[in-house]
Amino acid sequence: MAKYGKFRGVGNYLVMAGKMADDLDERIGYYGEHLVLLAQMLGLNTCWAGLSYSKVPGTYVLDKDEKIACYIALGYGETQGVTHRIKTVEQVSNISNNTPAWFLKGVEAALLAPTAVNQQKFSFEYVGVDNGIHQVIARKGFSLIGYTQMDLGIAKYHFEIGAGKENFKWI
Ligand SMILES: Cc1cc2nc3c(=O)[nH]c(=O)nc-3n(C[C@H](O)[C@H](O)[C@H](O)COP(=O)(O)O)c2cc1C
Repeated sequence: MAKYGKFRGVGNYLVMAGKMADDLDERIGYYGEHLVLLAQMLGLNTCWAGLSYSKVPGTYVLDKDEKIACYIALGYGETQGVTHRIKTVEQVSNISNNTPAWFLKGVEAALLAPTAVNQQKFSFEYVGVDNGIHQVIARKGFSLIGYTQMDLGIAKYHFEIGAGKENFKWI
């Protein structure tokens, strides 16, 4: 594992694979981030690796219709990572005086989510209330690098944690 990466000596990693499907990348991001945050809470360090890794035959078994979407490196890092610029709430959402407080918390949590090359090509739209239930849309932006669908899954999980899953529904 390494190229644009910041890794070396990665001995442990999760192979993130699944049945080919249009929404595979988003689900890998969403559920993979559950594992990432759990690992971090246990005191481990992690890094998503979609670009800079090499597949080692014999370390995974795939069915014919399955594919590897990415890897998650796992272990004790030399550092806890570095801080970097993040976008503003206004850049990635329709936040206003009319949006609920939990919406801001969700967007703020999403802005702390890891994304491929820190591209943060996602946005959240507060739509309104339908039948007493608040509605939110999450969208991926365009990127030549790709990985926007996986990033979106990761960001949506963060949004749910920040906003409180019980407060709204995705549409
Ligand atoms: C889907 C995805 C793929 C990534 N692929 C790589 C990679 O191949 N190599 C790498 O060094 N970092 C990779 N990263 C890590 C990002 O470049 C970036 O360092 C990280 O998301 C920022 O995390 P931080 O906010 O915790 O610093 C990837 C992140 C995501 C979400």
